[in-house]
Amino acid sequence: KKIALVMGGYTGESVVSLKSAAVVAQHLDEDRYEVFPVHVYQDSCYHLAANGEKIPVDFNDFSISLAGEKIKFDGVFNIIHGSPGEDGKLVGYFDMLGIPYTTCDSLTSSITMNKAYTKNIIADIPDLHVAKSVQLFENYNGLAEELLEKLSLPIFVKPNSGGSSIGMSKVKNAEELDLALDLAFKEDDQVMVEEFVSGREFSIGIYKAKGKITVLPSTEIISSKEFFDFEAKYKPGVSEEITPGRMDERDVEKVKKIAEQVYRKLNCKGAVRMDYFLETKTDDFYFIEINTVPGQTETSLISQQVKAVGMNLKDFYTELIEEMWH
Ligand code: DAL
Ligand code: MG
Repeated sequence: KKIALVMGGYTGESVVSLKSAAVVAQHLDEDRYEVFPVHVYQDSCYHLAANGEKIPVDFNDFSISLAGEKIKFDGVFNIIHGSPGEDGKLVGYFDMLGIPYTTCDSLTSSITMNKAYTKNIIADIPDLHVAKSVQLFENYNGLAEELLEKLSLPIFVKPNSGGSSIGMSKVKNAEELDLALDLAFKEDDQVMVEEFVSGREFSIGIYKAKGKITVLPSTEIISSKEFFDFEAKYKPGVSEEITPGRMDERDVEKVKKIAEQVYRKLNCKGAVRMDYFLETKTDDFYFIEINTVPGQTETSLISQQVKAVGMNLKDFYTELIEEMWH
């Protein structure tokens, strides 16, 4: 079967996508699949041939022409983080063309791309908590005081549709708030300001294969930075990551149940990753966000979790690919 490995994207996460794609490409089963790297950028979309040639993609049917032969793809392995791969745009186009893909559908992708909308949908899941937050549709710059009447410091300021912590700040003093808002609004026209949850951070991968949802073991994240920022995420050694995360059996079962309900409620497909804080005093799980095209770089969490259950990445990717035709 012919698979387009779709990478790149419109955001600052495109560099992450290329790293993820390299890992995926390395582990795809060559006996089963003929893999075509396809780069998607705002101003160009092309297949990068083995000889370095850039073959343009025909947008009428997402095909390419190689040596006079028209090649259509049997499916897409989508590894674009952020827009247009993770926010529903690209998969909506694939739906129109009838091309299957490995990730969530367009509705789920677009909702989950927005951290505030997602929180509203899943807030009533039993045992799941969400941090208090305010969703901003325009820059509050100058109105910081008003905001701080609603939320107590420290707070996180996040572009609502951001990823990899780009444009995100942790604000500990009121004076830092205006700058944080400016940074976030540079990335997005919606911003979420969220109260800090003190506790330990866990990230959990979940995927569906052969019709069955599997919750992977969690990874506990101990960042040596102020939070799990871009550097801590991708520079080896800047954060300590423990898989499976340290929690007692009761909490393991609790968060597994929560994660599975979130996956179902949002109607997810493929491999997603959810981030939670386990509040120290109350022992409650706070949902932070879900990533429907989670990183697959060498330092990414999902790969660690897959290996922790004794599965190799090749089999994992094969399961994800086969699932898209079911
Ligand atoms: N947004 C990054 C790629 C992640 O969730 O892993
Ligand atoms: Mg993210």
